Amino acid sequence: MRRALLSPPACRDLSALRAAVAGRAVLVTGASSGVGEATALRLGAAGATVLLLARREERLREVAARVGAAGGRAVVIPADLSDPASVDGAAREVLKAAPVLAGVVSNAGRSVRRRALDGAPRADLERLLAVNVTGPARLLLALRPALVAGSVVVNVSSVSARHVGAPRWGAYQGSKAAFDLWVQAAVAEWPGVRGASVYLPLVRTPMIAPTRAYRFLPALSAPEAAEVVTLPFVRSVVRVAPWWLPGVEVAGIVCPGVLARGLAWAERFEACLERRR
Ligand SMILES: NC(=O)c1ccc[n+]([C@@H]2O[C@H](COP(=O)([O-])OP(=O)(O)OC[C@H]3O[C@@H](n4cnc5c(N)ncnc54)[C@H](OP(=O)(O)O)[C@@H]3O)[C@@H](O)[C@H]2O)c1
Repeated sequence: MRRALLSPPACRDLSALRAAVAGRAVLVTGASSGVGEATALRLGAAGATVLLLARREERLREVAARVGAAGGRAVVIPADLSDPASVDGAAREVLKAAPVLAGVVSNAGRSVRRRALDGAPRADLERLLAVNVTGPARLLLALRPALVAGSVVVNVSSVSARHVGAPRWGAYQGSKAAFDLWVQAAVAEWPGVRGASVYLPLVRTPMIAPTRAYRFLPALSAPEAAEVVTLPFVRSVVRVAPWWLPGVEVAGIVCPGVLARGLAWAERFEACLERRR
């Protein structure tokens, strides 16, 4: 029931994934945790050579060991997407390790939930734009020589990039929506390369841990999300989303005010609960 309500279409058939990626190289960014870690393990179990990118090298080495134990091969590429020099260095390492990529899973991301007028809103926005937009864009552009006909670029996005702006989520929603459109447009310019946007619902990972309210909401597990993220490797889809997302998008067009008021009400209700604790 939880899965039917939450889960977008997914690739649950490991043999189909194996047919698509075994012996081929796939880069997964944000592979040290959550969705990226689970995706790397699944691709590894399917026999891919998985290039693991994130900042925490130790964590990447642990994931690499597990990929190896599952029968795959892994290459660890520590890099900080918010640092252009680090991104360029990582791209050189990727191209050296894998001159041709079966795919890139652009998954690394950060989220901040803070009122635009609290704390350091401009710093939030700039930090998120660097990690969620300009860093991954710079990386993909540098990897263009390895993306050939048949390569797949999977953008791990969020359902929140497709609905109206929600209080406290401006920097996150704005950055996810911006990169999603950028990557769709860029990949459309590259003959033979296929792009796919995956709009995930809530996934139980370290990213959502700071938001208390999410503890009580249904969420996918990271391995379930990995099945969703790997679908574009086996099926020629350009968009993967839960069945209810189009309804939310239509509501955002037909009655955006109602949706915005609903989100603002939920925000006030949650703030009220937080004050009582
Ligand atoms: N969890 C959800 O409910 C949810 C819902 C919709 C969409 N998503 C999307 O799913 C993706 C994965 O999120 P998650 O939930 O798996 O979060 P997570 O567990 O916090 O993982 C985030 C990953 O991004 C990496 N990362 C963060 N900053 C980085 C940087 N500057 N340079 C390189 N790598 C960096 C982290 O590695 P290091 O810290 O080692 O660098 C980590 O591997 C994100 O794009 C997120 O927007 C998540």
